[in-house]
Amino acid sequence: MSFIKYGSVEEYKIEFDYSSIHILVDSNTKKHCLPKLPASLTEQANIIIVKSGEMHKTIDSAKMIWEKLSNKNADRKALMICLGGGMVGDLGGFCAGTYKRGIKYIQIPTTLLSMVDSSIGNKTGIDLNGIKNLVGLFYPPQVTIIDHRFLVTLSSRQILNGYAEIIKHSLIAKEETLFDQIFEKDLLKCEPEKLIPLNIEIKSQIVDQDPLEQNSRKWLNFGHTVGHAIEAQAMQKGIDMLHGEAIIIGMMIELELSTAKLGFPQDLRNKIIDWIKDNYRIDADWIKSEAKRLLNFMKNDKKNHEKRTLFSLLKSKGDCIENVECDDKLILQTLQRHRKW
Ligand SMILES: NC(=O)c1ccc[n+]([C@@H]2O[C@H](COP(=O)([O-])OP(=O)(O)OC[C@H]3O[C@@H](n4cnc5c(N)ncnc54)[C@H](O)[C@@H]3O)[C@@H](O)[C@H]2O)c1
Repeated sequence: MSFIKYGSVEEYKIEFDYSSIHILVDSNTKKHCLPKLPASLTEQANIIIVKSGEMHKTIDSAKMIWEKLSNKNADRKALMICLGGGMVGDLGGFCAGTYKRGIKYIQIPTTLLSMVDSSIGNKTGIDLNGIKNLVGLFYPPQVTIIDHRFLVTLSSRQILNGYAEIIKHSLIAKEETLFDQIFEKDLLKCEPEKLIPLNIEIKSQIVDQDPLEQNSRKWLNFGHTVGHAIEAQAMQKGIDMLHGEAIIIGMMIELELSTAKLGFPQDLRNKIIDWIKDNYRIDADWIKSEAKRLLNFMKNDKKNHEKRTLFSLLKSKGDCIENVECDDKLILQTLQRHRKW
């Protein structure tokens, strides 16, 4: 199990042996975040730069990183530092886990989404042929360092992107605290840094109970069966859509499925959907006409078994049920019927 450290990255000192340091950044984190690392670290490091954006979470980027490690003769005691959002964290963790059968790595998440979600829980991976996270491994970092000061250079859109996973945690968590802190609020007026520890706690508790996602960890996939399909289809069509934005739409659709399959209360569902729509302006009118293609993506979801399309849905707030099967007709109807986003 890896552990979490809160505080300033400037004061962080590496507390284990390593033979060389390799810092993975993307073009944005090179500019905004790398200068915040201590010079004692960056001066001795090999900086590896990957292009920013989900479309670069690929095997080509992984190959480039493996080669850069190899060209610098990185041995099995080399250390990788992933300095970036979920894209850099997933990709860098995957390369660290596979290079020479695994080298140590550190996660330094720099987006809200990566602080509350992707840097926690040891999942690493890349997309393949447009399918999200098709290749990957569970591979824990030595430590995850949370320094919320990185958030200052994020746009409002990127902050809302992170709130998508915070909303998810608030809906699946048994305790009310997080939901009470954000429900019906203007999210951009909340203070995200104050919400980070509680989100990490909620995710860590779920992960610790089921680290390899055999059962209850699947609750974290609420909104993601539909969301991943939307994200993948948006990528194929060249539509500008962030991970959290796809997940937000995925959650609204899966809330409707939750009512249809498990009786999630309609009143609360409508209030949640209205609150989400007050906060997010996502251009997603195309979803209706792409319903059949989205369904195909869902059928390819790695969470499925025996060709059944499976979801993690909510019976009520804080009561998530994994492996709920929905038939094609219900999924298509829900996607097509849906009100304008
Ligand atoms: N491993 C997991 O458990 C898990 C969970 C959720 C999501 N994910 C993955 O995370 C990814 C999404 O993560 P993300 O939203 O952080 O995306 P991202 O890493 O692409 O970052 C979003 C954008 O913000 C920029 N950026 C990063 N930090 C910045 C900073 N401090 N200042 C200015 N710009 C900055 C990046 O360059 C990028 O353009 C997806 O690939 C998703 O599949 C993984």
